[in-house]
Amino acid sequence: MSSQLLTVINDNYQAVKNDGQDVIAGLKKSPKSLPPKYFYDDRGSELFEDICQLPEYYPTRTEASILEEYADEIAQLTGCCELVELGSGSSTKTRLLLDAYQKVGGSFRYVPTDVSGGILKNSVLELKEKYPNFSIEGFIGTYDETLAHLKSNPTPTSFVGTSLNRTICFLGSSVGNFPPEELDRFLNQVTDASKPGNYFLLGIDLQKPKEILEPAYNDSQGVTAAFNLNMLSHLNWRFQGNFDLDLFTHKAIYNQEKSQIEMRLYCQENVTFSLEILDLKVDFEKGESILTEVSRKFDLAVIQTEMETKGLKVKKVWTDPKKWFGLILCQA
Ligand code: AVJ
Repeated sequence: MSSQLLTVINDNYQAVKNDGQDVIAGLKKSPKSLPPKYFYDDRGSELFEDICQLPEYYPTRTEASILEEYADEIAQLTGCCELVELGSGSSTKTRLLLDAYQKVGGSFRYVPTDVSGGILKNSVLELKEKYPNFSIEGFIGTYDETLAHLKSNPTPTSFVGTSLNRTICFLGSSVGNFPPEELDRFLNQVTDASKPGNYFLLGIDLQKPKEILEPAYNDSQGVTAAFNLNMLSHLNWRFQGNFDLDLFTHKAIYNQEKSQIEMRLYCQENVTFSLEILDLKVDFEKGESILTEVSRKFDLAVIQTEMETKGLKVKKVWTDPKKWFGLILCQA
C-alpha cells in the first residue's frame, strides 16, 4: 500500500551525465538541428497545452473525438491492466480512457510518464483525487529511459499484489517526431518492453492537404512560434546559453515528398552564441535555420505493416469520419 503515497516512481530523477551531447551534435551539423525533446521544459509543456486548444491545431481535438467514441471498446479489448503512457503531459485526453477503465472495473493501474517532472507531478496529484480507486504513479524520463525501466520491470502488480497485463500507450502522434530509422528503433524498444499478450495503443496523425497542415503549425495567435522559440530559452537556462530569442523567427512547412511538417527557427543576423555548460560556440549566418521538429503524417496501411513486422499484431484500428487521425491497438 505504501506505493499509494508516491507521486512518481523515480523522484530522484536527474538528467544523465552526458546530457546535452545531442545538442552539441545537432548544432555542429549542417544544416543545424535540435531534438524536439528540448521543447518540453515546464514552460514548453504549458505552451504545448495551449497549442492543443488552438482552432487550427486539429490533432488533439480529432484524437479526443475518436477516444470519446471508442474508449469503452478499447478498455474492454485490453481489459483491466496497467496503462503506461509515454509522454503523457497533463493526461487530458487520457482521462477519456481512464473513465472507460473505471467502467470496466477491477484493479487498474496508471503510469503516466514524461520528461517534464513538474507537469507530471501536478497531474498525478489531480488524477489521484479524481480516481481514488486506481493505483497511479508517474515516471519521469525520456522514452528510452521509460522503455528500459519497463523492460526491467515486466510484471506490474495491482494494489492487492496480483499481476496485471500491461498496455503501453503513445497518443497525440508524438511518434511523428521519429524519422524512419528512429521509428524502427523505437518500435523495437516497445517490443522489447512487452511480454506476449501485452498491448500497445498508438495515436497517429494521417496524411491530409497542405492547406490544413501548414496553418496547424503556423497558427494566427503565434502560440506555435512561442513554443518553438521556447526551446532556445530552455537551452539558455539549462546550459547557460545566450541565444537572443529576438533574432529568431519561426516557420513550419509541409514537405510533401517526405509527408512531414518541418519546423525551423531562422536566424536574422550573422551572430555567434555560446552554451557555457556545454563549452560550445555556435556561429549563425543571416538566414540560417535550425530544424527543431519533424512531425510525420502517416499512411494507416503502411504503419500497420510496420507494426506487424515488429511482432506487434494489429487488433483493431479506429479513425474519425474525415480520416484525419488514427488509433491502432496492437498486441505483442
Ligand atoms: C507533440 C509531436 C505530436 O507534432 O503535432 C505541435 C508537437 N509541434 N505543434 C506535433 C507540435 C508544433 C506535436 N507532437
